[in-house]
Amino acid sequence: MGQSIAIVGTGACAPAKILSNQDLAKLVDTSDEWITTRTGIRERRIAGHHEPPSELAARAAAVAIADAGLTAADIDLLVLATVTGDMPMPSTACLVQRRLGLPPGAVCFDVNAACSGFLYALEVARAMLAAGRHRHALVIGAEKFSSFLDWQDRATCVLFGDGAGAVVLGRGADPARGILGCHLGADGGDPALLCIPGGGSLHPASAGSLEHRQHFVKMKGREVFKFAVRAMAEAAREILEQHHLTTDQISCVISHQANRRIIETLSHDLGIPLDRFVINLDRHGNTSSASIPLALDEARRAGRLRPGEITLLLAFGAGLTYGSALIRW
Ligand SMILES: CC(C)(COP(=O)(O)OP(=O)(O)OC[C@H]1O[C@@H](n2cnc3c(N)ncnc32)[C@H](O)[C@@H]1OP(=O)(O)O)[C@@H](O)C(=O)NCCC(=O)NCCS
Repeated sequence: MGQSIAIVGTGACAPAKILSNQDLAKLVDTSDEWITTRTGIRERRIAGHHEPPSELAARAAAVAIADAGLTAADIDLLVLATVTGDMPMPSTACLVQRRLGLPPGAVCFDVNAACSGFLYALEVARAMLAAGRHRHALVIGAEKFSSFLDWQDRATCVLFGDGAGAVVLGRGADPARGILGCHLGADGGDPALLCIPGGGSLHPASAGSLEHRQHFVKMKGREVFKFAVRAMAEAAREILEQHHLTTDQISCVISHQANRRIIETLSHDLGIPLDRFVINLDRHGNTSSASIPLALDEARRAGRLRPGEITLLLAFGAGLTYGSALIRW
């Protein structure tokens, strides 16, 4: 008792290759003007053949571990959020364990909550640390969505990018600081709103699954847009109420980076000025579970997460899933 679970280090990894809207306009019938006005995205990073999510994750995590003043030997729990992992089995977390040289015996596993994955992973790791069996946890969001995009579908291929972000969790001495709480949820009513239908046991790889392009992201954009705004606004109100906080006590909001218009609508609906939102989707696109830790690392390095201030994290994603978290630095 009397302790808190806190973020003690952060790191991020963006692949070097940049794919601009102009580059995309050479691949599909789209334009920089359409993508920028409808989404706010200008460019995204694309991982190379030798940069699977485990590689991006390991690079982000190495930075986070050093930032925390720790070494790989100090990490005894790794929870990794991804829906584009290196392979169905083993988990990407175990591949990262090997790349980083985490000690044998560390608990390592993946979490699938799509773009809400980082918040789900954060809450799982927080609860496991709070239960007292682990000392330091790595929480990572790592994705290579470019491998699951239909580069003939202009409605989806312009939206996503690759990357990874990581945080290290440890115990803090001040119970008033650290992760104040998380609120998670799911609504599995219509999985077809956002999915990759092929490649699992329901539709294993076959000539038919290839022909019907089932191994790529399928999305009903308008419905997902509406869900995103409603679910994140409700998740924000719920967690603020739980902690008896008002929106003017929130100095920074880091929401999932999917579409600038979603963030603008959220800002309006919650009554939180847009300049308190971290926005980096113009440079990264939607990196799914990596988007929040990537933005968090950038915000921290830019000095936007000051001691004593409260940050609100908000996510939504396929499932559909959603979540919120509050952190006092
Ligand atoms: C995808 C999204 C940007 C589309 O924007 P929108 O304003 O809803 O646009 P619509 O889907 O209604 O399409 C409008 C038109 O633009 C066209 N269009 C779609 N993508 C296009 C592109 N890349 N370039 C040019 N035109 C495009 C459509 O074909 C449609 O044309 P039509 O009117 O002739 O049929 C928006 O719905 C969105 O961001 N949704 C949320 C998606 C999301 O966040 N997903 C990730 C979840 S983690």
